[in-house]
Amino acid sequence: MNQTGTYVLAFGICVIALCVLLDDFALSRRRAADYVGVDVCKKCHGMDSIGNQYRIWTASSHANAFMRLKSGKAKEIAQKAGVDVPHADLRCLKCHTTGAGKSDAVKSEGVGCEACHGPGGDYFEFSNHASFIDRENAYKKAISLGMYPILSVEGIKARERLCKNCHRDVRPCAPADIEEKKRRELSLSIIADLPSKLRHPLRR
Ligand code: HEC
Ligand code: HEC
Ligand code: HEC
Ligand code: HEC
Repeated sequence: MNQTGTYVLAFGICVIALCVLLDDFALSRRRAADYVGVDVCKKCHGMDSIGNQYRIWTASSHANAFMRLKSGKAKEIAQKAGVDVPHADLRCLKCHTTGAGKSDAVKSEGVGCEACHGPGGDYFEFSNHASFIDRENAYKKAISLGMYPILSVEGIKARERLCKNCHRDVRPCAPADIEEKKRRELSLSIIADLPSKLRHPLRR
């Protein structure tokens, strides 16, 4: 290789190294979005014209998951697990509220919208996740801003991981009875095709 060739090569390597460094920098600065809470989503998703997902959620047991930690049964379970105050303990809040109990904004809302759709701080505004003209790109943008990609067929694997992250055998409140444990296992068909109590499409 002649001298010019060597310079060009060295310059190329420097450019690549700089790109890698800058990319690393951008990644390390990217933080997870904040949780905003169901009341923010309700402003629009409580409207019948787009399906009122809020109303369906309110009637589901997910909306009751935090309150459940104040029940007699919860106290019983907690005692066995060495937990004093279940509704104030991360070991229970982990699956019984949005943000695993680490975000004050959503500590007592139960398993809310953002527990399944991802923290909404960066995508909750209309133009950051929705469009009546180009849904596909709006959804892509939302994902880049922290929305979990759990929708439609492409999202099935991620959705399964999401559900089973909470719905698993090893949890302090799992039934001791093996038959009952089996009965409560979430099958892939339930995950793929939500039961009517939980289903909340955009429009009907
Ligand atoms: C300013 C109104 C508004 C707010 C606030 C809002 N949304 Fe939406 N969202 C919409 C509309 C309208 C659509 C549907 C657009 C369409 O029909 O194509 C939508 C679509 C969606 C979708 C479908 C996927 C997509 O990107 O199209 C999800 C999931 C969603 N919203 C979740 C949420 C969650 C969770 C929150 C709260 C963190 C929230 N939205 C807050 C108006 C809103
Ligand atoms: C790994 C996630 C996870 C953790 C951690 C967890 N739970 Fe649960 N809990 C669940 C799920 C999922 C259900 C719903 C199961 C079903 O109905 O199939 C549930 C249901 C319950 C119920 C209703 C049980 C019933 O049999 O009707 C109570 C009460 C409860 N949990 C209390 C607790 C308490 C107290 C703690 C902390 C000591 C705790 N949970 C920790 C995931 C969890
Ligand atoms: C337990 C998890 C879970 C919770 C909680 C939840 N969602 Fe969903 N949501 C899903 C899943 C899974 C789908 C996809 C269902 C399907 O495709 O059949 C969905 C679908 C949607 C859609 C329709 C998207 C489309 O393409 O049609 C909207 C809008 C939405 N959710 C908004 C909300 C709002 C707003 C809340 C809170 C009031 C909420 N969700 C609570 C899991 C959840
Ligand atoms: C953040 C944890 C968490 C996630 C994520 C989650 N769940 Fe749950 N789910 C719970 C808890 C806790 C309960 C029990 C609430 C109660 O009974 O108080 C529950 C209850 C249920 C029930 C029982 C409903 C009934 O009334 O019989 C079903 C079915 C269910 N979830 C399905 C799903 C599916 C499907 C997904 C994924 C799309 C999902 N869950 C995601 C925590 C979670």
